[in-house]
Formats: sequence, C-alpha cells, structure tokens
Amino acid sequence: MSHLLVTGGAGFIGSNFVHHVLSHTDHTVTVLDKLTYAGNRASLDGLPEERVRLVVGDITDTAVVDPLVAAADAVVHYAAESHNDNSLHDPRPFLDTNIIGTYTLLESARRHETRFHHISTDEVYGDLELDDPDRFTEQTPYNPSSPYSSTKAGSDLLVRAWVRSFGVQATISNCSNNYGPYQHVEKFIPRQITNVLRGIRPKLYGKGENVRDWIHADDHSSAVLTILDKGVIGETYLIGADGEKDNKSVVELILQLTGRPTDAYDLVTDRPGHDLRYAIDSTKLRSELGWTPTYGDFASGLAATIDWYRANEAWWAPTKDGVEAFYASKGQ
Ligand code: NAD
Ligand code: DAU
Repeated sequence: MSHLLVTGGAGFIGSNFVHHVLSHTDHTVTVLDKLTYAGNRASLDGLPEERVRLVVGDITDTAVVDPLVAAADAVVHYAAESHNDNSLHDPRPFLDTNIIGTYTLLESARRHETRFHHISTDEVYGDLELDDPDRFTEQTPYNPSSPYSSTKAGSDLLVRAWVRSFGVQATISNCSNNYGPYQHVEKFIPRQITNVLRGIRPKLYGKGENVRDWIHADDHSSAVLTILDKGVIGETYLIGADGEKDNKSVVELILQLTGRPTDAYDLVTDRPGHDLRYAIDSTKLRSELGWTPTYGDFASGLAATIDWYRANEAWWAPTKDGVEAFYASKGQ
C-alpha cells in the first residue's frame, strides 16, 4: 500500500483519479488543492475519510508543499490553471501555478527523493492540419500556441531538467482532451450539455471544424496508475484513446442524445489562435506498458456524462450563470 499526494485532486481529472484510485487500489491519498474557481470539494464527496484527506493550499507555497511531499510515497501532479480561454484573458495565474507551482513541487521531490508523476497535455505539441495523416508522438517537437499550453510546455521542460540535473525520479504523461463527470462548465462538452439542459443553444467557435481527440477521464486515470506502476523514470508517455471528433459532430451528438434537432446550435466568435486539430499516437504506452482504454464507444460515454450532469445540477448550477456571462462578454 502506498500514500499518494495528488495535487489538484478537487479539479476535474484529479478528482476522477482519486475516485479511481480508491476503487482500484489500497492506496491512501492526500489531496493538495487551492480550491480556485475550478476546484470543488464536493467532487470528493462520499469517499472514505480514513483513506482520503483534503489539504486546502497553494502548490507555490513551499511551507505547505514540503511536509506533504516528504510524507508521500509518490506525488501525482494535476494542479494547474487549465483553461485556454482564461489564459487569453489573464495569463498571469498560469505562470504562477503551472511554472512556479511545478518548480516548487520539484524542489520538494528533489529534497525528499519522492517519486513524481507530472500530468501534462498534448497541447504542448501545437496543432495538426485537418488532413495530416500524422498524429503526435513522444518525438514530436514542442510548439505550444496559447499562454496555457506554453506554461504547460515550460513545466514539462522543468521536470525533464530536474530528472537529468538532480536525479529526480519523475515521469511525464501528455494526454488528449478528457470528458466525463465533475468537469467545470467552462469546458466545451459540459458547457454544451448544461446549455441544452437550460434551454440555451450550444455555442460552436468558428465553423465548428476543429478536431479534438476525446478520452474518458477514467481511462486517463488507469493510464496514470499504469505509468506509476510500470513507467520508466525519465520517460514521457502519450495518453490517448483514438477518439478524434470535430466539434460540430460532438454538438450534434449531444443534441441527438437529448432529443433536440441536430442543427439547433449557434456559430460564435472563434478563439484567437485556435488550435485546429490534436491527435495522439499512444503506441508507446500500449506496447511498452500494456495499457488499453476501456471506454471504446464515445456515444455511450457521452450519454453517461449527460446523465451525470442531469442528475447533478446542484454540483454545476452555482457556476453556470457566471461562466455564460464571461463568454457573452466575448461574443461566445
Ligand atoms: P481543472 O481546472 O478542472 O482542475 C485544476 C485543479 O487545480 C483545481 O481543483 C484547482 O483548484 C487546482 N489548482 C489550481 N491552481 C492551484 C494552486 N496554485 N495550488 C493548488 N491547487 C491549484 O483542470 P483539469 O481539466 O482537471 O486538468 C488537470 C490537469 O490535467 C492539468 O495539469 C491539465 O493541464 C491536465 N490535462 C487536462 C486535460 C483536459 O482535457 N482537461 C487533458 C490533458 C491534460
Ligand atoms: O488537449 C488537452 C487540453 O484539452 C487540455 O490541456 C486543456 O486543459 C483542456 O481545457 C482542453 O483544451 P481545449 O482548448 O481543447 O478544450 P475546450 O473544452 O476549451 O475546447 C474544446 C474545443 O471546443 C476547442 O476546439 C474549442 C471548442 N469550443 C469550446 C468552448 C468552451 C467551442 O466550440 N465552444 C465552446 O463553447
């Protein structure tokens, strides 16, 4: 049995990971989370107190971070400012949390020789043309587009440097777009689901032709556990489940699954610098570590996610109006 320190464990993917760890292992977990607008302690409701504890604190604060890293067998680092649209509006918190926060954790992992797994994104590789036959691999050069993705790229490079220069026992994973329960309504899929549930028409940026490579958050969690268990120190693993879809198709599917006409959406102002397409080749993770995703069918995963938002309005309703007011101010 191990004790994990999960940063950002009250956010979307971090809370899914904590739920996954509790039901698939004997590990105990300390969540370190600042509870920014994106964190929600209710995402950890129902988990046994003897196995999960929440510490509310900032990953840039060494006094908070250091004893928690010292007490952990491994750190799984999810905490980040994660939303591209916010990073275009106000980049500063992205530099503080994604760069300085990762640096602070790495210094503690170095001091205490604690195993470290860094959660990152496929966005560090930039984007692909719609008709490009290639997908991202671990060898693709970094070419981030937004303040968000550039700070994630910077954090990845810090991890690599701390492995090489200081011998920190770290691995990195870069995953594609996640969907599932507990995702903030600012993000594409929950925004459109909750719009439909509220009688608002879904909003597609530009022409809706941009492509994302969707993976269920639970599959992301099983991949991270696999890397913690079998990953080679210093290595990077891409995580993806062959789920490429253009945004228009995703909105049409949400409308179909909720019994609405499939053309009942609006095209709105595009995101500046909007990445065209992401696509992951996860051959290394599958062939070297033996991981496979379990959510093969996007439509049924999406239907279950719609059911979750329908059943958990109390979880998302307090944030919905503020998010829509923010988007409306930008014509989105
Ligand atoms: P999220 O915004 O839902 O959650 C982020 C969490 O981090 C929140 O609980 C927030 O309170 C916490 N946090 C933020 N700043 C903090 C700080 N300074 N100190 C402590 N806690 C802080 O994000 P998410 O979508 O769950 O993403 C989690 C991680 O996964 C991020 O590192 C992100 O880059 C990465 N990732 C996300 C996706 C995706 O599709 N969402 C895909 C690949 C990788
Ligand atoms: O690829 C992994 C990344 O996926 C993560 O690193 C990020 O943390 C995560 O936020 C996500 O980034 P995206 O920018 O791809 O996700 P978002 O949900 O913001 O948007 C998905 C797509 O949908 C993108 O092409 C923009 C578009 N979009 C988004 C919103 C909010 C719309 O068309 N309409 C919308 O209302």
